[in-house]
Amino acid sequence: MRLLSLEVQNYRNIASASLTPGRELTVICGNNGQGKTNLLEAIWLLTGGKSFRGGKDAELVRRGEPFAVLEASTLRAQQEEQEPDTPNRVRMTIGMPDSARPGRYAAVNGAPPKRAAALAGSFPAVVFDPGHLSLVKGAPEGRRRFLDAALCQLYPGYLATYRRYVRALQQKNALLRHSSTTPERPYAEKTALLEVLNVELAAQGEAIQKRRRAYLEQLGPLACANYAELSHGAERMAVRYAAQFEPGGLAALLRARQNEELRAGQSLCGPHREDLELLLDGQPAKVFASQGQQRSVVLSLKMAEAAAAARITGEHPVLLLDDVLSELDEGRKQYLLTRMKEKQTFVTSCDDTAFLKTDGEVYRMNGGVLTKL
Ligand SMILES: Nc1ncnc2c1ncn2[C@@H]1O[C@H](COP(=O)(O)OP(=O)(O)OP(=O)(O)O)[C@@H](O)[C@H]1O
Ligand SMILES: [Mg+2]
Repeated sequence: MRLLSLEVQNYRNIASASLTPGRELTVICGNNGQGKTNLLEAIWLLTGGKSFRGGKDAELVRRGEPFAVLEASTLRAQQEEQEPDTPNRVRMTIGMPDSARPGRYAAVNGAPPKRAAALAGSFPAVVFDPGHLSLVKGAPEGRRRFLDAALCQLYPGYLATYRRYVRALQQKNALLRHSSTTPERPYAEKTALLEVLNVELAAQGEAIQKRRRAYLEQLGPLACANYAELSHGAERMAVRYAAQFEPGGLAALLRARQNEELRAGQSLCGPHREDLELLLDGQPAKVFASQGQQRSVVLSLKMAEAAAAARITGEHPVLLLDDVLSELDEGRKQYLLTRMKEKQTFVTSCDDTAFLKTDGEVYRMNGGVLTKL
């Protein structure tokens, strides 16, 4: 996947900017608070997803302006070979362009605009943002979200499975929470309802775990190899899926723990309670990893996410790396800089010294104004 050009208008602190990225590396440098992450975020929105920084769409529009516009031309790998002169043109509006419904809309090649979510899959990208460091230190939920988000991008059916699971889980938790049986709902009726929900949970839960396990079989070795190279073998990373059940075993597990769940008043088992274990030299990274090591783990996972997507879909995602070099030692920085030359990569940095030697395109962002160096 390649971004050929991007024009930005009234996006956050950027009144107007024009970016012509390199084939491989594009660097956006500048001081704190100047708009570097904003530009990276604008590129990310071309995926059709929400901002990786969270928040509301309205916050993306420059204060005082009704709407923002992103205009991009992109090329898929296949087009690159067959029709490099006819890239896709995407025009996205954010906010209220003609006082119609607010939101993000995108028009591709002049067709009528659709909701931006319809772009899903057309511009694959992987983003590293310092917020992702919580993948190591944070709660299991963040690690599950990492897996599930990647799977949603890779397999269109996964989101539907996931939603069915969540809906059944919500119903089950509501049922378990109101645990006292009433004359209107005797114990037998309640357990019967629970069993019905557990059938659905077992079916969807097995499908979720199966996808996660298969994905980790690809992602894990790639991430560990990345880590070995990044750290020059200083530590060994390992990735393990912390499962609650073996394939085919969820229905039995739900039956076995039904009374416990009734007593606890909440659901206790299923893929929503599983985790992705990240280990360094056999120890949980969550407890023992240093700042630089945590960053290295997350980067290794993110680069593996891109490589796995390339294998599965045949399209290598664009890499967006926000403030990636800080806290890394010289060896790790150099390794990353060489990796960034492999595929189209955008990187922001406060410190441009590391990049001045590279042969990428270097831009400076200053108060929302982008200039090419
Ligand atoms: N909707 C908006 N309208 C105008 N300005 C905005 C809007 N949203 C954010 N900003 C401004 O954008 C600036 C932050 O930009 P950004 O996060 O891209 O900085 P950065 O260059 O990445 O900085 P750092 O190096 O600290 O990460 C802030 O000064 C903020 O006030
Ligand atoms: Mg930033």
